[in-house]
Amino acid sequence: MADKAQIIIEGKTYELPVIVGTENERAVDISKLRAETSYITLDNGFGNTGACTSAITFLDGELGILRYRGFPVEQIAEHCTFIETAYLLIYGELPTQTQLDDFSNSFTKQAGLHKDMLNFFDGYPKSGHPMGLLSAMVCSLSGYYPELLNPEPSQDEMKRTAAQLLSKVRTIAACTYRKSVGQTFVPPREDLKYIPNFLHMMFSSPNKDYKIDDTVVDALRVLLILHADHEQNCSTSTVRLVGSSWANMFASISAGVCALWGPLHGGANQEVIEMLEEIHKNGGNVQQYVDKAKDPNSNFRLMGFGHRVYKNFDPRAKIIKKCADDLLNKMGIHDPLLDIAMQLEAAALKDEYFIKRKLYPNVDFYSGIIYKAIGIPKEMFTVMFAIGRMPGWIAHWKEMKENPNSKICRPRQIYVGKTKRDFVPVTSR
Ligand code: ACO
Repeated sequence: MADKAQIIIEGKTYELPVIVGTENERAVDISKLRAETSYITLDNGFGNTGACTSAITFLDGELGILRYRGFPVEQIAEHCTFIETAYLLIYGELPTQTQLDDFSNSFTKQAGLHKDMLNFFDGYPKSGHPMGLLSAMVCSLSGYYPELLNPEPSQDEMKRTAAQLLSKVRTIAACTYRKSVGQTFVPPREDLKYIPNFLHMMFSSPNKDYKIDDTVVDALRVLLILHADHEQNCSTSTVRLVGSSWANMFASISAGVCALWGPLHGGANQEVIEMLEEIHKNGGNVQQYVDKAKDPNSNFRLMGFGHRVYKNFDPRAKIIKKCADDLLNKMGIHDPLLDIAMQLEAAALKDEYFIKRKLYPNVDFYSGIIYKAIGIPKEMFTVMFAIGRMPGWIAHWKEMKENPNSKICRPRQIYVGKTKRDFVPVTSR
């Protein structure tokens, strides 16, 4: 295997180091290219650019492999709680019982929101999108914990900030939902575990507790785990980029929430359900939508289909599809949208356009069916994704902070605008 790459520029040969990862992934290290040649590289959408080395998540898009700290995601989804998964991603190993108890207790104590923070919800329009409110509230936590804003945080400070974020993201999510349906907030309960506590804050009323159903808890556990990390995706890269300026963890993760909101990323889960509802309303003709997605004159895409990295199948989508099917069966629900989703998948997978471009259902294709069955409205779907992704964002921010070679992220560009010209007044003053 090559340990050096050569590049010939204007007839001169330069040698560049080759970096090899633990799974034999190879990269040409171009960090000195500009200094030595005055050239930069151009990579629209960063499809070929490694922005960092990372030991958190490995994925192989061709083989459909996803591993958290070396463990196949299928095994983690089968055996772990969401909190164990969070610990694994953030600290690199599965927790011992003592570590797990300590970690869980740190959330339980942080679940409530400062009473002044609750006033923020009243100032936000009832119909405003929950992701806008989530991002604002996550960033606003910085105002309530000024002791956690050290640009060079200690391990203890990072641990405390992580506990605040992991715990409060579900309280903020539940408050956001209740605000949108005009209900008063239900405070967290110290006797409930992470997911039941979230369901309690979402669906209990002041005089009647929501009946926690283990089937629902387990479906949510699987979903949150499958969303927990996905290496250098758009929102995680955003968290790293913002954090690289030494912005605090609250601010960096708030930016990640905004990046996640976009329909090409985490916002796709809401778009999928809206698409399925539209197909259902229009008579269920899935082929019509497959044809529309292929039409070069239309901007329409099959939402929940395609992925920058997965070119064979998304292992998360496989598990989620089965989970959706099982949950609906156990709950005795027949959702016509699940039938439409399966028909749409079958139609697309045998279509030459999708086969040629290697487009498969992604993590967002079936997740909305599960959220819907649980009673979570579609505007909240991307918020659910954010709850799941929180451990990954924290793990990457922490990894970046702990890397002594981390630098501020500052890409370059190739300027294609006007060349120098002299000022000529256009308006009179
Ligand atoms: N429906 C129809 N055509 C598609 C789709 C789709 N969902 N996705 C990609 N294509 C086509 C493109 O039009 C393009 O065709 P062309 O070669 O004829 O121009 C080709 O496939 C390659 O697509 P790109 O946009 O270049 O692929 P990229 O890697 O940049 O985009 C993305 C990946 C954004 C996920 C894309 O597949 C997409 O828009 N999917 C729908 C939105 C979605 O589900 N997003 C969630 C992704 S998972 C996540 O972020 C959590």
